[in-house]
Amino acid sequence: MTVTVTTLPGDGIGPEVTAEALRILQTISKKIGLDICCNEHLIGGAAIDEFNVPLPAKTLQACKESDAIFLGAVGGPKWKDIEVHLRPEQGLLDLRKSLELFANLRPVSTQSGLADLTPFKKGHLSNLNILVIRELTGGLYFGKRNRTAHEAFDTCKYTVPEIERVARLAGKLATKRTRKITSVDKANVLDTSRLWRDTVSRVINDEFPSVTLEHIYVDAAAMYLISQPETFDVLLTENMFGDILSDEASMLAGSLGLLPSASLGQNKPGLFEPIHGSAPDIAGQNIANPVGAILSIEMMLRHSFKQADAANALQLAVNNVLSNGVLTADLVSDGQKPASTIEFGDAVLENIQL
Ligand SMILES: NC(=O)c1ccc[n+]([C@@H]2O[C@H](COP(=O)([O-])OP(=O)(O)OC[C@H]3O[C@@H](n4cnc5c(N)ncnc54)[C@H](O)[C@@H]3O)[C@@H](O)[C@H]2O)c1
Repeated sequence: MTVTVTTLPGDGIGPEVTAEALRILQTISKKIGLDICCNEHLIGGAAIDEFNVPLPAKTLQACKESDAIFLGAVGGPKWKDIEVHLRPEQGLLDLRKSLELFANLRPVSTQSGLADLTPFKKGHLSNLNILVIRELTGGLYFGKRNRTAHEAFDTCKYTVPEIERVARLAGKLATKRTRKITSVDKANVLDTSRLWRDTVSRVINDEFPSVTLEHIYVDAAAMYLISQPETFDVLLTENMFGDILSDEASMLAGSLGLLPSASLGQNKPGLFEPIHGSAPDIAGQNIANPVGAILSIEMMLRHSFKQADAANALQLAVNNVLSNGVLTADLVSDGQKPASTIEFGDAVLENIQL
C-alpha cells in the first residue's frame, strides 16, 4: 500500500517533535510494508515569514491531496503583533475548516509511573482511559461576531447535521470501547445545547442501542473530571466546551507534552497533531517531550491507515520507554537526568517490536 503524508512541522518545538515522530513512522512503515511518501510544507509563523500568510494555497492543496496530515505546532511571540486573522494560529483553524475536520479526538490515559506528577490522588488515575471527542467546526468559534467601542458579540450556532455526524462517530468509537458516552452541554440555559442533547439522544438511541448515553452539564463535567475522572469513557461535547474540558483532562496524564490528537472528517485526510503548542520557552534546545507527536503517529496508523497492530506496537513501545524511566525534562523528578528529545525517540525505536 502506498500513502502520502503531508508534514507541517510549523513553529517552535514543532520541527523537533515531528522529526522524532517521523523517524519512527519511517521505521514502522518499512517493517510493515507500508510505502509512505512524506511531503513537507509550511504553515503558521514559518509560512508567514516565507509567504506572508499562515496557510499558503500550496500547503492547503498538498493537504487536500494527501492521505493524512501530520502537524507539529504553530505560533509564537515573533508573530504576536500581526492582525488576528493573519496570525499563525489562524492557519490551523482555516486548515481544519477547509477540510471539514469536524471531530477532534483526544485520548487521555495515565501511566502508573507518572502519577506523582499530577495533583490527583493515585486511586483515581489507575488505568484511566478517556476519549474526549470535541466538535471542531461549529459553535461559538465560527459564528457571527462583532465588536464596537461599546459592545461586542459572538454567536453560537449548530445545525442538526453538524451534531448528527459527530454523535455518529462517537457512537462508532464507543462500540469499540466500554460502550458508554457522556455528552456534555448546558441544556438548562442554551438552545444550542437543547438541540445538541435531543440530537445526540436520537442518534445514539436509534443507531447504537448497545451504547449507554448520559448527559451532564458542562459545569458538573468540569468538576467530575477532577473528582471522579475514572467514571468517564467517551466524553462527547461541542466546540468551546471541548476546548476547555480537553485541556483540563490533559492534566490527568501529567504533562501537556504527552497527549496526541486526531481531527477527522468524512472521507477527508485526517489531521494528526500533539495537543501542545509551539512552546517557545523551550524551542531549539532538544528538550521537548515528543510523546504527544509520537502518539499522534500512532493515531494516524490506527485511524487513517487501519494498521492496528503497528499502532498497538508503537503504543506499547512508548509505554515501555516511560516505564523504564526514560523521561524528558518535563517529567523528571529533582536530580534525575532527563532524556533529550532525540534520546527519547531513539529509545522508542529500540523498543518497537513488529
Ligand atoms: N495546536 C497548536 O499549534 C497550538 C496549540 C496551543 C497553543 N499554540 C500556540 O503556541 C504558542 C505558545 O502557547 P502556550 O505557551 O500557551 O502553550 P504551549 O503548549 O506551547 O506551552 C505551555 C507550557 O507547556 C510546555 N510544553 C508544551 N509542550 C511541551 C512539550 N512537548 N514538552 C515539554 N514541555 C512542553 C511549554 O514549555 C510551556 O511551558 C502560542 O502562540 C499559542 O497560540 C498552538
